[in-house]
Amino acid sequence: MTIQETIYLSDYTPFGFIVEDVHLTFKLAPTTTRVISRIRFAPNPDSSSRDFFLHGEGLNLHWAKVDGADVAPDLVKGGLRCDVPDTAFTWECEVEIDPQGNTALEGLYMSNGMYCTQCEAEGFRNITFYPDRPDVMSVFTVRIEGDNPALLSNGNPADSGEGWAEWHDPWPKPAYLFALVAGDLRNYPGSFKTMSGRDVELNLWVRPGDEGKCAFGMEALKKSMIWDEEVYGREYDLDIFNIVAVDDFNMGAMENKGLNIFNSAVVLASPETSTDANFERIEAIIAHEYFHNWTGNRITCRDWFQLCLKEGLTVFRDQQFTGDMRGHAVKRINDVVTLRSRQFREDSGPLAHPPRPDQFVEINNFYTVTVYEKGAEVINILKHLVGDDGYKKALDLYFDRHDGDAATIEDWLQVFEDATGRDLTQFKRWYTDAGTPHVKVADSFDNGIYTLTFTQETAPTPGQDDKPARVIPIAVGLLDPNGNEVLPTQILEMAETTQSFSFEGLSAKPVPSILRGFSAPVVLERETSAEEQAFLLAHDTDPFNKWEAGQALAKDCLIAMTQGGTPDQGLLDGMTTVARDHSLDPAFRALALGLPAQDDIAATLAARGITPDPDKIWRAHQALKQAIAQHLQDVWPRLLAEMATPGPYSPDAEHAGKRALHGVALAYLSQIDGGTAAKAAYTTAGNMTEQLSALACLLSVEKGTDELATFREQWQHDRLVMDKWFGLQVGYASPENCVATAKRLSEDADFNWKNPNRFRAVFGAMMMHHAGFHQADGSGYNLLADWLIKLDPVNGQISARMSTGYETWKRYDADRQAKARAALKRINGAPDLSRNLGEMVTRILK
Ligand code: PHE
Ligand code: ZN
Repeated sequence: MTIQETIYLSDYTPFGFIVEDVHLTFKLAPTTTRVISRIRFAPNPDSSSRDFFLHGEGLNLHWAKVDGADVAPDLVKGGLRCDVPDTAFTWECEVEIDPQGNTALEGLYMSNGMYCTQCEAEGFRNITFYPDRPDVMSVFTVRIEGDNPALLSNGNPADSGEGWAEWHDPWPKPAYLFALVAGDLRNYPGSFKTMSGRDVELNLWVRPGDEGKCAFGMEALKKSMIWDEEVYGREYDLDIFNIVAVDDFNMGAMENKGLNIFNSAVVLASPETSTDANFERIEAIIAHEYFHNWTGNRITCRDWFQLCLKEGLTVFRDQQFTGDMRGHAVKRINDVVTLRSRQFREDSGPLAHPPRPDQFVEINNFYTVTVYEKGAEVINILKHLVGDDGYKKALDLYFDRHDGDAATIEDWLQVFEDATGRDLTQFKRWYTDAGTPHVKVADSFDNGIYTLTFTQETAPTPGQDDKPARVIPIAVGLLDPNGNEVLPTQILEMAETTQSFSFEGLSAKPVPSILRGFSAPVVLERETSAEEQAFLLAHDTDPFNKWEAGQALAKDCLIAMTQGGTPDQGLLDGMTTVARDHSLDPAFRALALGLPAQDDIAATLAARGITPDPDKIWRAHQALKQAIAQHLQDVWPRLLAEMATPGPYSPDAEHAGKRALHGVALAYLSQIDGGTAAKAAYTTAGNMTEQLSALACLLSVEKGTDELATFREQWQHDRLVMDKWFGLQVGYASPENCVATAKRLSEDADFNWKNPNRFRAVFGAMMMHHAGFHQADGSGYNLLADWLIKLDPVNGQISARMSTGYETWKRYDADRQAKARAALKRINGAPDLSRNLGEMVTRILK
């Protein structure tokens, strides 16, 4: 086992030098690229350190000079040290690197013959020696020499000729925002006029053949640019904005200044190859990366502990954007579904950490749902506390005060305190404390006064035993027994461990609608009757809580069914009403007809001290689906007809919503017609959304063998569609077949396991298949371990990320625990485990 060195927030010190400017020359060659750097350093007046340490990993240093004279730096672990003058000086060096041999996809690497970079968080040190930390910002000039048609870097084009190009980025930036791309790429062009009238050239760069999948991304980019001007007053600041699509990419996309690099899966779109969900995600990620230009690039992070400063805020902004584009109610529900299934899971297990952690071994392991999604929720809380006007004032001040800075969460909070006058001391706990608060609610009615009493409690998390009360904005509305709203939404600010709020002048005991819009990321615990939930499902005016009431009913029902209960009549009737209610948005109806995830049921049982049985949960889920399918059997054919979307495909929210409800109807109908309707739908499908949803229906009733074969034939040439083909088979397998299916597919000739998208398609689907992954024989745990051990030396970021499949292992019975522990120990014992996976497994095992 390797010794893991922990980095602490409390150890932060500024770098001893400032970087005045950076000049880089790249002489590209697949296995022998040379990088020549010329960097102007000066002593940092804000630091007393004169330790000239430059990060560097896997670099072959050819020569180095200080002020033109040869020097022989000390090559030390993780970089080099050198004696330097105590006044400003020029550092120069040449290193050689091997992009072709770089399988970790961090630094400069090759993907399908094209060069590209990924530098966040600490990848620049794989390119040249440099103070690779986000608080060191500088102006970059980059010269690229290579015989590739496209030669791109950050900033504006400066000059070019046959076989070379130069770029200049006038905005000081940290090295993690550096990017370079070179290859045989085609550009899909566009243009944008900014609010002050400047013309910006836009390009989407793709491999030849993918030009037909660019139009949607380009439109999404323009929408994002307008939105950030209109809503946040933020204008783009270069003459050109480039986006590049690459097939081999560890994450979704990267906000490099002026040169965003995207996983091709989240930028290329066409109706034939992309689902509605893909279109929505692409629009959101393009917006996200674009919004980073201000929240991330112009204002960056002082150190990586502050990651949520840019990520939480940028997720919050992209959520607002998607809400504006496609409807807020449905967007909020989708976001909460993700938050609960992924972040609540993280927050209640061995990997729990605060949105702003204070220690890490490998920063790449902290690009988590807690930093991103909970980071966004925390801003939502803050906005509730200071109000819309306060939020706007604070954001204006933030951009004003911190433009050009590498900032901290303390800076961010100071801005809100200064702009609004509000003391945020208690609020700050949301940033520093891990764990999801559980809020219990009790109520009473007496003499026309209705009282709600809340009690909050947060369970201990690793390294944090004590959890003081947090400030929680609880949005509440009250309905009278006839379903009329007698108190419109109010924000109750809970700041104590236990706190009561009273409402006077009511003629009858009201029905409360609590935590409307999911006003804070907490688990609400309230003993209610199924009747009351059914009442809220029917009458709540808050769309989130209307959906929530149905989900709560379904959850209670599923839990009862794991213990021998039968489907609840109120739930079945409520679902019928919702399905038929034409006044409700089809997208909303589709969500309301969905069932809580099996992993959520397991989490809830575990939180109540009951050991979840994955097979029983699976069977309860199947039985409830059956019961709903049967109870609404007359509704499905009608919905299929009403929700048809003839005519040309449009990915807009209206059409997508109809297709979503159509898909839900088809899925339920398949449960009772043996797949007949789905088979027909598969043949007539006019776009990928319909084709995939029909195929999924068939697989879920153990049909679809022929369709799988023809699908493969049809889409063999399209790697993104083939990812779906791989993933779907695992995701829709029965629990007994899930692991075997993953194993069979991992032996397929098209299983390029070094490609993160393909690896995730199979093994991501396997670990998300609750009953499949947690098979009692431990086969899921073992197969994942085999593959993580195999992948780790090639790509430690992905192996580490995928190890989160095990994070819930302690929820289950002793037998399963023993098998999971053995698999984790086997991983931990693998020779030369990466720091990434090593840290994850250590934390998960604890
Ligand atoms: N900063 C990227 C984003 O959120 C994510 C990312 C992190 C991409 C690390 C690559 C590597 O938009
Ligand atoms: Zn981001």
